[in-house]
Amino acid sequence: MKRDQHFRTAARLAEIAPFHVMEVQNRAQALEAQGRYIIHMEIGQPDFAAPPQVIEAATRAMRERSLGYTAALGLPELRAAISNFYRGRHGVDVPAERIVVTAGASGAFLLALGALVDPNDEVLMPDPCYPCNRHFVRLFEGRARRVAVDERQSYQLSVSDVRREWNGGVRGVMLASPSNPTGTTIPTDELRGILDFAASRRGYAVVDEIYHGLTYSTNGDPLATALAFSDQIFVVNSFSKYFSMTGWRLGWLVVPQDYVREIEKLAQNVYICASAPAQYAAMAAFRPETLAVLEARRAEFQRRRDFMVPALRELGFRIPMVPQGAFYIYAGCEKFGPDSSAFALRVLDEAGVAITPGLDFGTNQPERHVRIAYTRSMEELEEGVRRIAKLVDR
Ligand SMILES: Cc1ncc(COP(=O)(O)O)c(C=O)c1O
Repeated sequence: MKRDQHFRTAARLAEIAPFHVMEVQNRAQALEAQGRYIIHMEIGQPDFAAPPQVIEAATRAMRERSLGYTAALGLPELRAAISNFYRGRHGVDVPAERIVVTAGASGAFLLALGALVDPNDEVLMPDPCYPCNRHFVRLFEGRARRVAVDERQSYQLSVSDVRREWNGGVRGVMLASPSNPTGTTIPTDELRGILDFAASRRGYAVVDEIYHGLTYSTNGDPLATALAFSDQIFVVNSFSKYFSMTGWRLGWLVVPQDYVREIEKLAQNVYICASAPAQYAAMAAFRPETLAVLEARRAEFQRRRDFMVPALRELGFRIPMVPQGAFYIYAGCEKFGPDSSAFALRVLDEAGVAITPGLDFGTNQPERHVRIAYTRSMEELEEGVRRIAKLVDR
């Protein structure tokens, strides 16, 4: 932006970084415009459309309803359906009154952090992690306190990290399980320990469970929700990933009972309500026949992960632990050069495979890592691996 314009932008903008993955996507698209066939392994969204039952419910809602604003907290029937889902899948009682329907997980972050962060407050989060976390904190004039994590702790904050880092300025902690970019989950003992410690400091925990439905445990049990351990935390979730509804912009936030009214005020002011057609459609997302479709998709993601991890290791990527969830592999690429951004560009330009350099996810050795998303068909993933193999000469 030119400095000589007659108004100036807010200082906070200088600290809000663009998504580098979008730049990769732009370059990939430019190559496609030249006729190249690019395999997209940079994209953080399922390659499946919304389940047919959801599309049918959306179509019916558009035909039969006026679709004005809904209540700011969301349609009561949808909040009840989400509450039933917690009971049915996790055996946890989460009253519908504590569930706020939002404009995606992003809208949930906006409300939760808008309600919690004051200027100069510090918020703990792992590094690497989802880039928007620190940007949301910055938006509210707080400070992200990033804690470097590695494979020895599943790329997640441990109780001892949180104890060590929790100084006088820290007000809360942000966690995500499974995580973007690493796909790893927080061991139950650590999660409980962190929630207990934060509570003992009268601090808050915001737990992002957006990839929760997408876990691949050996015994098929769903990952426990943090809500099983505390009702005094903020839990973010979304229809974007497990439910394959990224563009529908719908998610939810579970809040402690005493905060419902405050969050409602914020929602009313910030965006009035989440999309009404998406809310009516999402009511079909929890039906048994829809869940059967989603579970088949989860099995397909697991199949892809089980192909990709050994295939990438064989090529020389360093993948110290098999990710338990989401659809990402956070891979060390030091064998191919000192700079993951240069490597990702080379993979795109020369092999026609788009992957994300570590730069988006923090300052903890981003130059040694790339994120590879298995959000493509098996055939495309196989072709992608063949192309990278040729590039790195294996
Ligand atoms: C960890 C994490 N949280 C939140 C989001 C935002 O998702 P939504 O589409 O629900 O706003 C994403 C999107 O990629 C994510 O990876």
